[in-house]
Amino acid sequence: MAEKLHPVRGMKDLFNEDYNAHEYIISTAKSVAELYGFEGASVPILEHTGVFARTLGEASDVVSKEMYSFLDKSNDSLTMRPEFTAGIMRAFISGGMHHQLPMKLFSNGPLFRYDRPQAGRLRQFHQLNYEFLGADGVYSDAEMLMLAQHTFEALGIAGDFTLELNSLGCKESRTRYQEMLFDYFTQYSNELSEDSKRRLLKNPMRILDSKDNGDKKIVATAPSIESSYSAEAHKYFNDLQNLLSIMNVHYKLNPKLVRGLDYYCHTAFEFTTDKLGAQSAIGGGGRYDGLSKIMGGPEMPSIGFALGIERIALMKRFTTIATRPIFIIPIGDENLEHAATIAANLRTQNIPTMLEHKGKIARRMQNADKARARYVVFIGSDEVASGNYKVKDMDNGQESFMSLEAIGHLK
Ligand code: HAM
Repeated sequence: MAEKLHPVRGMKDLFNEDYNAHEYIISTAKSVAELYGFEGASVPILEHTGVFARTLGEASDVVSKEMYSFLDKSNDSLTMRPEFTAGIMRAFISGGMHHQLPMKLFSNGPLFRYDRPQAGRLRQFHQLNYEFLGADGVYSDAEMLMLAQHTFEALGIAGDFTLELNSLGCKESRTRYQEMLFDYFTQYSNELSEDSKRRLLKNPMRILDSKDNGDKKIVATAPSIESSYSAEAHKYFNDLQNLLSIMNVHYKLNPKLVRGLDYYCHTAFEFTTDKLGAQSAIGGGGRYDGLSKIMGGPEMPSIGFALGIERIALMKRFTTIATRPIFIIPIGDENLEHAATIAANLRTQNIPTMLEHKGKIARRMQNADKARARYVVFIGSDEVASGNYKVKDMDNGQESFMSLEAIGHLK
């Protein structure tokens, strides 16, 4: 007997309502993004491993544990994208798109992270991703956060999340803070969790968002990030908060928010909810002014964020109203050709039309029901001869005879 096939752990098939919910979330988000000048962009799922390994941070969970990397037939190390940002930056640099700046890019699609699957955490998941390349000045930060809030409003989930906001400071303040944290956590190096011992050497800031209870106690009295800000970083963050208040964007300051990826500076944020248990982040992002340079591109201020589609889909039931088709039932093989011409005619008028020519009539009526057909049109020899077709209204059961033209005007 053939081996039983099953999906890869943490990877889901999408059908029916699940598929429709994803499509609805994507199209709603895309039309909101267009209001802010975003255009669609798509980059490959596979990139050279260096694109992610050199940019997301060696100590990040994504690079150290979660990447799907493999050698291809030419012995090149490739990685299935765990996020969009580095791939988009690679595309910007290798495509020489400097003259197109500023660019606002919206993408969506699958990402891959080898993490322990649980509700809201998958190994193949999907994001709505927004990148604003060449985003200079604090208004861009505020506008990105307005865009996120607008998107949640359009999806009807605006009341269910908190925008947690922090500033990681400029490059110099970040380095200063890393040093302060290194000195502080070194005093407790024996008490830290194994993960945090590793982070202490590579990126002490990551210890701040450790989930380990022992670490949390040590983190509680760690030096505050604010004490490391330069005057410039201070001003940037204050200006942003002023703008957000003026624009009516609600936020909560969280000085321990550091983000799981290394490329951020200044503004960093997450959208969290208490509706999804352990996986509380619906999305996150921030400013990544240094990333282009690290990847061999020009100096370029940028900001972006991503929202997890699966997590949004868990927030509420997105019921979409699919258009209801006209269902054509030819009676007898001899009338199939005529019925097929009618179906083709209706479709050229943009009317969704299904035709089923095999099986008992009762069975075909059941399938019309299943397809949520609005009308069923029967095509027998009498109808073909007279050009008047029997039409059944599936909502009230009434039957009448109609010309093809009248069928085309049915609502
Ligand atoms: P991230 O915080 O790693 O950021 O992911 C953003 C969102 O993707 C998360 O808040 C979550 O909703 C969803 N997500 C992440 N991992 C999983 C998973 N295993 N299963 C289900 N959903 C998941 C980034 O990816 C950055 N590239 C965002 C960004 C764009 N920063 C600047 N531009």
